[in-house]
Amino acid sequence: MTQEKIKWGIVGLGNIAHQFCKDLSLIQDAEIYAVASRGKVKAHHFATIHKASKSYGSYKELFEDPDIDIVYIATPHSSHKELSIQAMKEGKHVICEKPLAINGKDAQEMVAVSKETNRFFMEAFWSRFNPSIEEVYQKSQEGELGDIKYIHADFDFHVSEPVKRLIDLELGGGALLDVGVYPVFLSYLFLGMPEKIQASATFYESGADEQTSIILQYTNAQAILHCGFASNSGMEATISGTKGRVVLNRMWHETQSYSLIQNENKQDFSRPTLGKGYAHEAIECHQCLRDGKIESEKWSHQDSMNLMALVDRVKKEIGLVYPQDEE
Ligand SMILES: NC(=O)c1ccc[n+]([C@@H]2O[C@H](COP(=O)([O-])OP(=O)(O)OC[C@H]3O[C@@H](n4cnc5c(N)ncnc54)[C@H](OP(=O)(O)O)[C@@H]3O)[C@@H](O)[C@H]2O)c1
Repeated sequence: MTQEKIKWGIVGLGNIAHQFCKDLSLIQDAEIYAVASRGKVKAHHFATIHKASKSYGSYKELFEDPDIDIVYIATPHSSHKELSIQAMKEGKHVICEKPLAINGKDAQEMVAVSKETNRFFMEAFWSRFNPSIEEVYQKSQEGELGDIKYIHADFDFHVSEPVKRLIDLELGGGALLDVGVYPVFLSYLFLGMPEKIQASATFYESGADEQTSIILQYTNAQAILHCGFASNSGMEATISGTKGRVVLNRMWHETQSYSLIQNENKQDFSRPTLGKGYAHEAIECHQCLRDGKIESEKWSHQDSMNLMALVDRVKKEIGLVYPQDEE
């Protein structure tokens, strides 16, 4: 791929697609080329706002556009698998919103298609590319925190009247899949795969989880994690090691800063994101495309599959079953 602009196609024009496009417009070599909605009028309106050259009234038409380099899938979780696979089979590189799928089996199928078609494929796990989280990860790799023994992270905000997407099991509703993936991600990034998982949840009438608390038990460490649509929690995360601890400041998954506390000395680090922070994952996609890679080393296919496998284990603990799990 040359140094020409990378042409993006945006699929599913809701809340996150707007936010992502605002950040894409900050990247010099990115072009919001085409957008697709289930409705032509909505697509045209979105294209006008984000200055896209083309708008389509179906996702299929966008997948078939030969001029698009990479497709961003921003639909409800339940359609991530089908749409990502369609796009890759039409020859497009793909970044798909989190969670990659409803379960680990579907995530594996998606990854297999990336390998078959030789198309770049990444879960849009933007927190992995957050400058504070990236720097703390580097520090932990260099041993600055000593052995990490304890992680605490939550992601809970009160939703008084949850929209369908958040509670409908058919659409992959529930707190665990929507926001629980963030604390589980943090623990996975710093500690890897746990030996044992305990979890407990409360549920909406629909069967989707309203709040879920999780303990991940590692050989020499523990993580205490929480997610929900129930209360306005602190949304700070603490990573504690034998030589000190880091606090990722509120809202930790998109944080602009962190503190390192060692021997009761506190150092504060300001690490502003580019835009809201979605720009960093898009820049990673550009780099991978220009390097001819089909996956990111920072958030690899295996990382996404491991995260889904962990979520599957939590689902099993709390008895959460989606229609897709029974297929
Ligand atoms: N990375 C993040 O920070 C972040 C934040 C929020 C959400 N997300 C993820 O992004 C995805 C979308 O979330 P969102 O908050 O943007 O949702 P949203 O506002 O409801 O938008 C989703 C869009 O998907 C399309 N869609 C296709 N099939 C649909 C269906 N059956 N029901 C409803 N919409 C359907 C619609 O676009 P058209 O009408 O244009 O076809 C809709 O506007 C989710 O997987 C979520 O986990 C990520």
